[in-house]
Amino acid sequence: AFVGKNGEGKSTMIKAIMKEIEINGGSVEIGHNAQIGYFAQNQAAQLDENATIFETIDRIAVGDVRTQIKNILGAFMFQGDDIQKKVKVLSGGEKTRLAMIKLLLEPVNLLILDEPSNHLDMKTKDIIKDALRDFDGTLILVSHDRDFLDGLAEKVFEFGNKRVKEHFEDIKGFLVHKKMDSLKEIEK
Ligand SMILES: Nc1ncnc2c1ncn2[C@@H]1O[C@H](COP(=O)(O)OP(=O)(O)OP(=O)(O)O)[C@@H](O)[C@H]1O
Ligand SMILES: [Mg+2]
Repeated sequence: AFVGKNGEGKSTMIKAIMKEIEINGGSVEIGHNAQIGYFAQNQAAQLDENATIFETIDRIAVGDVRTQIKNILGAFMFQGDDIQKKVKVLSGGEKTRLAMIKLLLEPVNLLILDEPSNHLDMKTKDIIKDALRDFDGTLILVSHDRDFLDGLAEKVFEFGNKRVKEHFEDIKGFLVHKKMDSLKEIEK
C-alpha cells in the first residue's frame, strides 16, 4: 500500500513506475516478466462511452472467459437488461466497477491501482476487494481507506515529509505502530 496525505507524490511515483513521466536523478527498472495492469486515478474516464456494458467486456475477453462474460458481469452486480446500457449513462461507481472488471480480465501479474475504491459504496468495495484478494500477482494499491487496505496490504509505504518509508507490516500493524486508529490521522 502507498499511503500519505494529498499531494505527497503517490500518484507521481506510480506514473514514474509506469514511465508516464520523466525521472530526474533516479531510475526505474521493471522485472522482465512483469506484465502490468494499471488503474489510474481517473481510470473510469477511459472507457468507451458509446459501448454497452456487455460490449466493453466482450471486446477484451478471450479464451474460456468468453463463455463466462454474463456470470462475471453478474458477480459485479451488472444483471439482466442492465448489461445493454451504454457506458455514458452509467454512474461514477458503475463505471469504476466496469473498469475494474476490464482490468481483472487482463493477463497481468502486477496490478497498480491508484485509489480504486474512491466514491464506491460498501457493497461495491467489498466485491472489488474480494476480486483483488483472489489476484495471484503483486498488487500496488494507493488508498486513503483503511478498511479497503485491511486484509489486502502486506507492506506499507508511507509518503510524507518528502520521503518514502517502508514498513514491513500490514495496515493494522502500521496503524498500531503509529498509535493511530485510521489513515485520516497520518493525513493531518
Ligand atoms: N505535472 C506536474 N507539474 C507540477 N506539479 C505537479 C505535476 N504533477 C504533480 N504535481 C505536484 O506534485 C505533488 C504530488 O502529486 P501527486 O498527484 O503525486 O499526489 P498524491 O500523493 O497522489 O495525492 P492524492 O492523495 O491527492 O492523490 C502535488 O503537489 C502536485 O501538485
Ligand atoms: Mg494521487
